[in-house]
Parts: sequence; structure tokens; C-alpha cells
Amino acid sequence: MVPDDVTVLYEMWSDPEHHMITNESPMLIESLAARRARLEKLQAEPDTHAARFTAETIADGTVIGTCNLWGIDAFNQLAHLGISVLPAARAQGYGREMLRLLCRYGFRFRNLHRIELETLATNAGMRKLAESCGFALEGVQRERAYDGDGFSDIVLYGLLRQEWSR
Ligand SMILES: CC(C)(COP(=O)(O)OP(=O)(O)OC[C@H]1O[C@@H](n2cnc3c(N)ncnc32)[C@H](O)[C@@H]1OP(=O)(O)O)[C@@H](O)C(=O)NCCC(=O)NCCS
Repeated sequence: MVPDDVTVLYEMWSDPEHHMITNESPMLIESLAARRARLEKLQAEPDTHAARFTAETIADGTVIGTCNLWGIDAFNQLAHLGISVLPAARAQGYGREMLRLLCRYGFRFRNLHRIELETLATNAGMRKLAESCGFALEGVQRERAYDGDGFSDIVLYGLLRQEWSR
């Protein structure tokens, strides 16, 4: 991810409903310039515990979303996974392709042993995507996340290296 990506991603990042689904912390209103400055800072001083990617099509470089590994833990060889496909690009198989590429990056090139993801129990799209890529449901945290109306369960998924390579 590079600072210029912010011009395409800002609209999705500024959507409070999207923020509620993808982020645990309350949404803070942030200008495009401030967001760009944050990416510039990250580029200058990379976070060694995260790897952030902007996804674009091979055909013409259209930006279609973002995915990242965060909380990279070198000792336990694990990381968490996050993914967002831009609304206009959803339901076309891009999410699956991004998830598979990110797992390959994590297992093969970062030598991870385990990748975790957590999502709202009501997030049918993410759950279907995770399960279709081989992630196993490992647990439920009851009423763990404020979802705008009340408290929702969080479901925890995990994928081990040996499961991925199969
Ligand atoms: C969840 C998300 C990443 C899925 O990406 P996508 O590109 O639309 O998914 P794909 O087209 O690759 O679909 C993968 C599978 O999930 C299913 N799926 C996708 N969205 C779905 C939905 N809203 N409800 C039910 N199933 C859904 C597809 O039908 C497909 O299933 P199949 O294997 O039977 O064909 C995307 O909807 C998104 O960015 N959502 C908002 C952000 C978000 O929720 N991120 C995760 C936070 S933890």
C-alpha cells in the first residue's frame, strides 16, 4: 500500500458502516490529507508487525480493495488477517483470490505457522469466504463487539500451514 492509494480507498474507509464491520475502535473522522499523512508515515517507518496491501486488477490496475496481515508474531509464527473489497468489486471472486494470495504470502514468504481471522458472527460474506478457503471455525466470543445496535458475537477462524498446503 502506498500513499497515493488513499484517493481510491478513502471513500470506503470513510463509510461508518464499513468501519463498524472491519474495526474494533470507534470511527474518528479523518480528512483525506490526514489519512495520506498516516500512510506516508507508515511508508517512512514501516510497522514490522503488519503487511498492508492494496489489491488491483492485473488487466488495468483498477484498485479493488485492501488486505493485510496484522499482529504478526514471529515467535509463535502467527498473524491475523484482514480484507476489504470495494463495494463495486464484490461478489466477483476477488475476495477469494485476495485471501488465497495473502495466505500464500503469509505461509510461504513470512514463514507463518498459523493465520487467524475474526469477524462478526453476522458477517455472512466473510464467513463463507473464510470457510471456502479452508479456515476452521475455532470459537465464538459472545457479545464481544458493539455493532451499532447492540452487541454481536465474534467468530474466530484459524488456518494452519499444513491445512493450507493440502
Ligand atoms: C467479505 C468480502 C471480503 C467478500 O469479498 P467478495 O469479493 O465479495 O467475495 P467473493 O466474490 O470472492 O465470494 C467468495 C464466496 O463468499 C460468498 N459471499 C460473498 N459475499 C457474500 C454475502 N454477502 N453473503 C453470502 N455469501 C457471500 C460468495 O458467494 C462466494 O461463495 P461461493 O464459494 O459459494 O462462490 C466483501 O464482501 C467485503 O469486503 N465486505 C466488507 C468488509 C468485510 O466484511 N471484511 C471482513 C471483515 S473481518
